[in-house]
Amino acid sequence: MFTRDIGIDLGTANTFVHVRGKGIVMREPSVVAVDVRNQAVRAVGTEAKEMIGRTPGSIVAVRPLKDGVIADFEVTATMLKKFIRDALKGSFFSRARVIVSIPSGVTEVESRAVFDAAHYAGAREIDLIEEPLAAALGAGLPVFDATGSMVIDIGGGTAEVAVISLGDIVTARSVRAGGDRQDEAIISYIRKKHNLLIGERTAEEIKIAIGAARRESVNESMEIRGRNLIDGLPKNVVVTTADVEEAISRCMRQIVSAVRETLEKTPPELASDIIDRGIILTGGGAQLRGLDKLIQDEIDIPVHVADNPIDCVVEGIGKRLDADLPFNTYYRRRKY
Ligand SMILES: Nc1ncnc2c1ncn2[C@@H]1O[C@H](COP(=O)(O)OP(=O)(O)OP(=O)(O)O)[C@@H](O)[C@H]1O
Ligand SMILES: [Mg+2]
Repeated sequence: MFTRDIGIDLGTANTFVHVRGKGIVMREPSVVAVDVRNQAVRAVGTEAKEMIGRTPGSIVAVRPLKDGVIADFEVTATMLKKFIRDALKGSFFSRARVIVSIPSGVTEVESRAVFDAAHYAGAREIDLIEEPLAAALGAGLPVFDATGSMVIDIGGGTAEVAVISLGDIVTARSVRAGGDRQDEAIISYIRKKHNLLIGERTAEEIKIAIGAARRESVNESMEIRGRNLIDGLPKNVVVTTADVEEAISRCMRQIVSAVRETLEKTPPELASDIIDRGIILTGGGAQLRGLDKLIQDEIDIPVHVADNPIDCVVEGIGKRLDADLPFNTYYRRRKY
């Protein structure tokens, strides 16, 4: 039997695929364009993301995951199927053994949905790994040592804070204050301040171009276009870093509180390791400027952004695939 080992970071915003022995082979947004007339899938990934907000009436761009978990089972399964098929393409491997990441603390039903979607997509053996554990492994933290490591993974759906020791999650907290919530906060801020309606793609572009968790010395600006809610016509306005900072401040406070609460639940020896060694930020949202400094000042523990933070989870899964690492936290394994 020709079986290929594949690692998948199934994220709310992006799905990354790692193939054992090859490395990361795919980075695609978790978006599917569906024709509503016959439910046919028109595009998956980047091509589908381009369609968000500008599809004709009959085609809708669907983001099948929300807040880290599967919201639309069929579309998720179809998307995974395409990604797994592409990863197997051009090889004589016909079957896949798959490890998929899931947020920490998901329900039985939610993790079951991931199993089933991966099975439907053609995987014959499936393992799940908790996202913060994969992130810590990918960031190069000594997760198997008897020392406490803290990782904060900020994705599109959730911000997850976890303390890890001896290959296991000791305590974790997940808050819905990831990139999507930040984008929504920017949309509603601009609606209130300028009576201007913008789409989620524009909000994300603003956040990435000029956003910051804290203004500090930079206060950049950019001109954006949206729809004037008073007369319905297109209108341009200028938004600044200060606007973004104010818009997303609630999300930032939620993240800081989650870190504080996690530390409060951490056994003292492990907490002291974290104070010595600092906290690592991973996930696409870790690239928000000033976030490391903001958390560091609020919590009074050094905070570092991992190298290539957006790749940490899939890199961690890849490490797990390449070497049979002695994980304690293996939810369940299923063979079909
Ligand atoms: N430079 C940047 N500044 C701020 N946010 C950013 C930046 N680059 C990417 N992001 C955000 O990172 C998020 C995507 O990160 P990531 O791919 O880690 O999420 P995910 O793994 O798909 O989501 P989740 O883990 O919550 O399911 C998006 O919300 C995106 O807007
Ligand atoms: Mg993620």
